Amino acid sequence: MLSYPVRIALIAALGGFLFGFETAVISGAEKTIQQLWQLDSFWHGFTVAASLIGTVLGSLIVGSPARIHGRKKVLLTIAVIFVISSIGCASVSAWFLFVFFRFTSGFAVGASSVVGPMYISEIAPAHLRGRLAGMFQLNIVAGIFIAYLTNFLFVGLGDQAWRWMLGIMVIPSALFWILLRSIPESPRWLILNNREAEAIPILNRLQEADVNGAIQSIKESVQSHQEKLFQGRYMKPVMYAVLLAMFNQLSGINAILYYAPRIFEMAGFDQTKAYLQPVYIGAANLLFTLLAMTMIDRFGRKTLMLIGSVGMIVFLGLTAYTFKDLQPADGVAHVANSNVLIYLIGFIAFFAFSQGAVIWVFISEIFPNSVRSQGGSLGSFTHWIMAAIISWTFPIIVEGSAHGGYYSFVFYSGMMLLQLLFILKVMPETKGKSLEQIQKELGIK
Ligand code: GLC
Repeated sequence: MLSYPVRIALIAALGGFLFGFETAVISGAEKTIQQLWQLDSFWHGFTVAASLIGTVLGSLIVGSPARIHGRKKVLLTIAVIFVISSIGCASVSAWFLFVFFRFTSGFAVGASSVVGPMYISEIAPAHLRGRLAGMFQLNIVAGIFIAYLTNFLFVGLGDQAWRWMLGIMVIPSALFWILLRSIPESPRWLILNNREAEAIPILNRLQEADVNGAIQSIKESVQSHQEKLFQGRYMKPVMYAVLLAMFNQLSGINAILYYAPRIFEMAGFDQTKAYLQPVYIGAANLLFTLLAMTMIDRFGRKTLMLIGSVGMIVFLGLTAYTFKDLQPADGVAHVANSNVLIYLIGFIAFFAFSQGAVIWVFISEIFPNSVRSQGGSLGSFTHWIMAAIISWTFPIIVEGSAHGGYYSFVFYSGMMLLQLLFILKVMPETKGKSLEQIQKELGIK
């Protein structure tokens, strides 16, 4: 039987599952949608990116409602938005309504990427915090895997398949809402709002060893609660979080996840195979995330990032090389093209092992207590704005030039080379250090 903190962290992490599902599900539907509403590559890219524009906004503005109304109420609202959006996306007939509901579901994803990890870290007893924080990413990749699987299962339904692909999300969304009702409010938020009496029994249930000590330290952090993030002393963590989040997306991860079937069709695979290959990609993502989770505290964030960067440079380079001589009219897959699957699985494995496993953990530990929620919001916001840019530009580049695939992958590979330099020269190691120690080493008094 899972312990109480693990159980409620798992429920909050379901927001990560919906994040992953929402991110990947569009890959199965984007082509039919382009044909249905006859979108040129600009408006097609916009339609796919609509949800990402929502994520940017969601991650940016969710801080205040979470502070005013509490984490639980905001998580419940996010779940309701997920339910309404999935029903909306699956049932619309007008293009602008589709864009609207993709925008709202993206909004929920962005908001949950801030409040989910925030809630988990606030309820986690110190000795469990690392492992519980990792559950969010694990849920993201599980969501991606299930979306690819359901896309593959539904693709045979023809014209209306996309409605099923998107609509099925109502099940995990409703489950999220039902389960969320049973979690307690964050005791940290209760104490910040002078509701100590309600927080004490929750802290007891959460196995907090020293309830009085915990209340004391939470109260102490209230004094510095309103500090501004953008000032000289926080420059380093701001820079680290922004750069790590930018490089996360400059790897091209979400261009690949969003357009996986299309990339395989570009490489000459037929439709069934083009929908099956992403399932392998999703499975590799899941497997290597699990592997990274067992190693992140032993080998450190930096080591994982170093190994991952080298692997990503190599496999993105190989993918680019395959697309170099590929003519769009090539038709049937030949041996060279089927290498694309192997190369992209290689890329995903190294991504999952490094950037995927590290990003949300690193962003949540690099900021001092006084500005952690603002810092988390900034990191998440940067990640989403870059994700929107990458997935908006990818189809434009691919369709705009016969060698668009080649150029894109050369660019992503080059960016991972820059990331490697950032890790070697700048990124600090945070493994096994207390948050105060990290703060001290960054020169923040
Ligand atoms: C990380 C990335 C996210 C991506 C996912 C893929 O969470 O931040 O954008 O979709 O990994 O596994």
